[in-house]
Amino acid sequence: MNDLVKKYNRQGPRYTSYPPVPFWKNAPVETSWISHLKESYKESEGLDLYVHVPYCEKLCYYCGCNRVVTKNHNVEDSYIELIQKEWKIYCDSLGFIPKVNSLHFGGGTPTFLSAVNLEKIIQFLTVNKSENFTGSIEVDPRNVTTAHLDTFLKNGIVRISLGIQDFDPGVQKAINRMQSFELVKNLMAEIRARKFESINFDIIYGLPKQTQETITYTFSLVNELRPDLIAYYSYAHLPERLSNQRLIKNEDLPEGTQKLALYETGKLLLAEKGYHDIGMDHFALPENFLCQAKNNNCLDRNFMGYVDKKSSILIGLGPSAISNSSKSFIQNSKGLTDYESRINSGVLAITSGHTHTTEDLAAQKIILELMCNEESLIDLDVHPYKIEISSELKNLEEDGLIKKTDNFIRVLPAGKKFIRNIAMVFDFHYREKAGIEKFSKTI
Ligand SMILES: C[S@@+](CC[C@H](N)C(=O)[O-])C[C@H]1O[C@@H](n2cnc3c(N)ncnc32)[C@H](O)[C@@H]1O
Ligand code: SF4
Repeated sequence: MNDLVKKYNRQGPRYTSYPPVPFWKNAPVETSWISHLKESYKESEGLDLYVHVPYCEKLCYYCGCNRVVTKNHNVEDSYIELIQKEWKIYCDSLGFIPKVNSLHFGGGTPTFLSAVNLEKIIQFLTVNKSENFTGSIEVDPRNVTTAHLDTFLKNGIVRISLGIQDFDPGVQKAINRMQSFELVKNLMAEIRARKFESINFDIIYGLPKQTQETITYTFSLVNELRPDLIAYYSYAHLPERLSNQRLIKNEDLPEGTQKLALYETGKLLLAEKGYHDIGMDHFALPENFLCQAKNNNCLDRNFMGYVDKKSSILIGLGPSAISNSSKSFIQNSKGLTDYESRINSGVLAITSGHTHTTEDLAAQKIILELMCNEESLIDLDVHPYKIEISSELKNLEEDGLIKKTDNFIRVLPAGKKFIRNIAMVFDFHYREKAGIEKFSKTI
């Protein structure tokens, strides 16, 4: 196993989209983007919404998210106005109010906003909501209140994700995120009392000061609280790009086989407690919606990660938010000031994007199927690099990571950890630009 880790532990995309953001080209201008939405939209299908809330009260050193650190809550009112204005630009340009199937709040920290302000946004965005509407939100245990929890449930936000990261005090100190087990335990009691549909914990492996002992301790406490879902992320360390990560000492970081061993320990401890490995670093209890989607072969993936269902359109509101029309992607300006000035002048804040080609869509299908079902039909005739792909697949097969027939590949248990490497074989954009862009390590 160590040799395989050495061989495959290189930089690579996480494939929350294909092509990954650094490889986007031919961004649609605003009028084309709106046309793509109009062509893709069907009232019977509706669309998904994402709202980015960039604010956090305190900086976590490991953070790779788009966020603004402030303790000034006066920014809340103008921010909710901006989100409302952006949605109004969409509705006016489309000429109708789209039906909303799902609404996800991410960040930064959505619970930086008060319960009252979050409710204002939810109600504004869900005037036309589908019967099966599902809402979800990322919650920071340090600032969520019972008023927030009541507001979520009242407004259909039934899936909650808690940013836990690690329970060990030494690790928490090294990442500047002190968050006691007592705090999370009390919060879990409040959440459970309200019967939310699903509770997720975000945990990260590869953080500074993590050892076999600390991760075992963290998972003993995770297992005591028994959330329905666990996202066990690999720490993405990109200090050249993210200045906050330079506050982490290199010598404190577990690397290579040591980092992979942290993952393996967590995975084992979860399996012992009945969690199923549903795909790239995600674990679920059997009765959870993602586990059921996996069993029914309908697991899917969007910019936020795994989902049980998705619409062909996703509109992202707020700075850095990404949208998908099934014909193209766009991303909003990452800078809050630029986003604000564009929205205030009545135009969308699109700064980058990608228009899909036939080859993109073919590769997208294979990569998505591999990520969700660990198998895919492959039609190499439409792929620009079929000779290289065939030889690389042969290599992966010899290493025991996949099983391949003429037009079908299946990821073997030993290959699951290397799923990003397997997907990369079909990524012709990566091939063309390999080495130019910086991604995190695949393990
Ligand atoms: C927007 S935050 C979650 C909500 C809230 N801000 C919090 O931290 O509690 C999304 C998640 O991204 C993950 N994350 C952030 N930076 C990361 C990094 N550099 N590598 C891996 N995961 C990271 C963390 O697990 C975090 O919970
Ligand atoms: S991890 Fe969450 S709370 Fe910490 S800085 Fe990043 S977005 Fe903010």
